[in-house]
Amino acid sequence: MTYSISIELATEKKTKPDVSKISFGSSFTDHMFILDYDGDRGWHSPRIVPYQPITLDPAAKVFHYGQTIFEGLKAYRTEDGRLLLFRPDQNLKRLNRSNERMSIPDIDEELALEALKQLVLVDQDWVPSAEGTSLYIRPFVIATEPLLGVAPSQQYKFMIILSPVGSYYAEGIHPVRIHVESRYVRAVAGGVGEAKTAGNYAAGLKAQEKATEEGYSQVLWLDGVHRKYIEEVGSMNVFFKLGDKIVTPELNGSILAGITRASVIQMLESWGVEVVQRRISIEELFEAHDRGELIEAFGTGTAAVISPVGELNWQGRKIVIGGGQTGELSSRLYNELTGIQRGERPDPFGWVVELKGAEA
Ligand code: COI
Repeated sequence: MTYSISIELATEKKTKPDVSKISFGSSFTDHMFILDYDGDRGWHSPRIVPYQPITLDPAAKVFHYGQTIFEGLKAYRTEDGRLLLFRPDQNLKRLNRSNERMSIPDIDEELALEALKQLVLVDQDWVPSAEGTSLYIRPFVIATEPLLGVAPSQQYKFMIILSPVGSYYAEGIHPVRIHVESRYVRAVAGGVGEAKTAGNYAAGLKAQEKATEEGYSQVLWLDGVHRKYIEEVGSMNVFFKLGDKIVTPELNGSILAGITRASVIQMLESWGVEVVQRRISIEELFEAHDRGELIEAFGTGTAAVISPVGELNWQGRKIVIGGGQTGELSSRLYNELTGIQRGERPDPFGWVVELKGAEA
């Protein structure tokens, strides 16, 4: 099925920034995609328009009850000028899983993919090509009905915006210092932790602020019931190399099912490395460190790809992992994954989707 997406081109083009000098997600391209929903017509009027502010009624439900979800993925420019997307189908499946959890109507994944591709093509001269850079794609849905009753909105907007980005951390891939958060929690099973919804990120800000004040980059989240089992690190999934096995918390309903997480598991298994998805407590991790068995730790996410953990502080106890250096496995995963994403290495998993119509 082909979808008819109307396109209104911008009459003025913005000046493109030097992505190595700007912070993550601070610059936006010339165009955006919009799709509207209302109870009578369903999703309608798909359109690409010049990037612009939107006007909403102050009573729009998103402002009051947080009915909103988002996704994040990237487009890469290869050395020979082709444009590649990394597993966009997975992001769109998750978009609908998040929609379902937040009582937002399903979006046709084929239409969303087509919209995303067309938008990137319209703004293709914004896809940077330098090592470590990409075009970050942010699809999101907001509830727009102006009504204060607590019930699912009857009106929504699905939008896609694009932002040229460099490395998530200004320093590139390097081990980060992590504060293990014992007071605040990010999510609980049965809540919305496994949905990519704004409230999960707002819930994390307080602990993040505290960690930053104490000189840490991110927090390690523990479960909301026992304050014991490891969940995520910052806004990423987390992996540990314990002896010769890799352990990552199992998806328990409060952890986001990361696409980088799934890709890392598949990649490690293809290398013959055993990956165990199970509950892992913070005590177990510190004990493994004391026995010399905690070899590496790293976070996985679209934004940072692989983020090695060099130090953990749990209630004043500090441990340094891998001498505070990027571990061998973290480096190998980073190089292999970014190599596939950038079209520099073979893609045995069929993860990469080439955008037809790119002008080299
Ligand atoms: C990611 O790691 O891709 C994230 O979800 C972070 C994003 C909220 C900036």
